[in-house]
Amino acid sequence: MTSKQSNDSHAMELSAQGDDWRPTPHGRFLADVLTANSFAKGKDVLELGGGVGNHTILLLRHEPRSLVVTEISEDLLASTRKNVERNRPAGSVIEYRVSDWLSTEGTFDLVVTNPPFCVSGKQNRRYFIDSLILDAHRRLRPNGELLFIQSSMADVQKTLRRLDENGFDAKVIERRSGPFRDYYFEDKSFMEEIKQVPDGYTVQDGTHMETLNVIHGTLRPYSPPSIAHIPATKK
Ligand SMILES: C[S@@+](CC[C@H](N)C(=O)[O-])C[C@H]1O[C@@H](n2cnc3c(N)ncnc32)[C@H](O)[C@@H]1O
Repeated sequence: MTSKQSNDSHAMELSAQGDDWRPTPHGRFLADVLTANSFAKGKDVLELGGGVGNHTILLLRHEPRSLVVTEISEDLLASTRKNVERNRPAGSVIEYRVSDWLSTEGTFDLVVTNPPFCVSGKQNRRYFIDSLILDAHRRLRPNGELLFIQSSMADVQKTLRRLDENGFDAKVIERRSGPFRDYYFEDKSFMEEIKQVPDGYTVQDGTHMETLNVIHGTLRPYSPPSIAHIPATKK
């Protein structure tokens, strides 16, 4: 794929090879939200799973203080880097890291991601969403923000409940509905699983529709009690 993204507000030149993740409606919707809002301005940002850099470039245009973007392998990160370097604003501060989800260094003001779900490759397809909810606090400063997109089929109410349990004030800030991708129908177990998800999807005139949800959470400050099971140096 070599493309010039058509929407003027996120005009950029992107190319993808091999296993690179090509932006889907989820990625395009999150791109619209990132373009319309200055979430990153002046912040230290961590973006997980940068893909072809479509969100990375938009985040950099909002002038973060710094941005770290990750991918799971050197090859995938090379594509992120190639696209970002071709499109990044002069003077922007960026670091590229290979890392497995949140297994990276540092603390940030904002974590942004479009987590794998349908093709997460895990028995729990929500693995990357749940991992984010459980462990983003390790990469976030107090009052740090989490911004991600998920399908209604990944159970939005479950996500909001778990975010609250894990110390986040969170809500859906934008919603958009759209038709299923063809590959959903090819995965029979996925089609069975989503029947159990409350408000997971609708069928309108024979067309299966999901809702894409952009979720924003703010981490409530928290100090564990002195008797908590945490090494003394971390208290
Ligand atoms: C749904 S795609 C999103 C890509 C891009 N941000 C977008 O929205 O178009 C998820 C991305 O996460 C990456 N990824 C998968 N597993 C990962 C892991 N364990 N750690 C970091 N990134 C991972 C994939 O390679 C892929 O680029």
